[in-house]
Parts: sequence; structure tokens; C-alpha cells
Amino acid sequence: MDTHMAKDAHPTTTGRTIGWAEHYDLVVQLLTLGRAKALRQLTIDQAQLRSGEAVLDVGCGTGDLTLLAKQRVGAAGRVCGIDAGPEMIEVARRKAAKRHTEIDFRVEPIEALTFPDQSFDVVLSSLMMHHLPDELKPRALAEIRRVLRPGGRVLIADFKRPTDHIGQGLLGMLMHGHVRQGAQDLPALLAEAGFTSITVDDKRSRILGFVRAVA
Ligand SMILES: C[S@@+](CC[C@H](N)C(=O)[O-])C[C@H]1O[C@@H](n2cnc3c(N)ncnc32)[C@H](O)[C@@H]1O
Repeated sequence: MDTHMAKDAHPTTTGRTIGWAEHYDLVVQLLTLGRAKALRQLTIDQAQLRSGEAVLDVGCGTGDLTLLAKQRVGAAGRVCGIDAGPEMIEVARRKAAKRHTEIDFRVEPIEALTFPDQSFDVVLSSLMMHHLPDELKPRALAEIRRVLRPGGRVLIADFKRPTDHIGQGLLGMLMHGHVRQGAQDLPALLAEAGFTSITVDDKRSRILGFVRAVA
């Protein structure tokens, strides 16, 4: 009998996936100067999740926000996380198993979700949009809208586009060259994708913006 579990294959995507998943949490902790947990709490608070809701976390990485989402929606809620990086999903699955938490983590790209239409109340996207080239973002948002039920909400937390040269240089390194767009540019893309009630909160964090919209 083959005792080896089949590893998830790398899906095709032009998004920038992360293969160094084992070190990801430490890097986030360092980059946020030890405030990673507070950042996650701030992000999940913005989503205003309710008990029993169905939530999808896209580009979920190692799953910290996904785990918090499950806490918020409780046993009656359903939480899924997708990421195009198999290594990230492997770490996320391990964390969930350790905490005996039921989350459906899948390796798949945002641009080709396998979930049926209208299957979620809320979609979360934390620090993923800047990993997508500009030309892929409309397709990603269309997929998010497709899987949201009418009236469902999306919350996107991502870097603000820096306006000064030093900020542009620093964030350019973090944003892997996809610096042409930032959180400020998402409302126009969301409107083009058919979302309504679009709001941006760029006051809560120096580097992150929180964008909310309704499908
Ligand atoms: C900076 S990490 C953010 C992870 C997590 N959401 C967080 O807040 O820490 C960006 C994630 O986007 C994923 N990613 C890149 N391209 C993607 C795509 N096309 N579809 C889904 N995930 C993608 C990467 O593998 C990576 O895990």
C-alpha cells in the first residue's frame, strides 16, 4: 500500500506564489515589527462576520486569517481557504488539524475557482491582490463576485499605493514590482466587476487599506 499522500500540484497562474511557506509567518512577524496578530485582528474585525456565515479566504497563505474567520462564524459557519501555492496550503492544513478546526483548504488559483456560483456570504482577501499582475485583477474580482451570493460581501486588505519616492522604493520591494496599483485603485476595479456599496478605509493602518464591497 502506498502510504505517501499525493502532494498537490502547482496550478498554472501568473500570480506570484510563495514557496517558502515554512518561514512565512516569521517574515510577517518581522515585517510588522511583532504586530502580525494585531493586524489579523484588525482585518477580521473589518469583515464583520456573523455566526453561521459561509466564508472564503482567497490567497489564504498559511491560514492565520482563515482560522480567525472560523472562530468568528462558529460551528454553524463554513470556512474555505484557497491559495495557488501548495506549500502555503500544506502549512495552513497542518495548523487547522493541530487546532482540530474544520476548514476546507484547497490549492487553486483565484482566477479559476472550483466553487459553484453564489456559494459564499463573504470573501476575504488579505495581502493577495498585490501578488497578482494588473491584468489578472479583473478576472480575480469577477471570480470573487461569481462565488458570492447576491448581497454577499468582499473585504480586501492590501497595501496602499505609496505616494512618495521612499515609500515607493520600500513597498516596491514588498510588492514584487506590482506597484502600479494599490488599495486606492481597487474601488474602480470593483465597480467595473459589478460590485456596489464600495468603501475604502485607509485611516486604520499606515500601509494597509481596507476595501469593502457588496456583490
Ligand atoms: C503575501 S501572501 C498573503 C497570505 C495571507 N492571505 C496573509 O494575509 O498572510 C500572498 C498569497 O497569495 C498567493 N497567490 C499568489 N497568486 C495567487 C493566485 N493566482 N491565486 C491564489 N493565490 C495566489 C501566494 O501564494 C501567497 O500565499
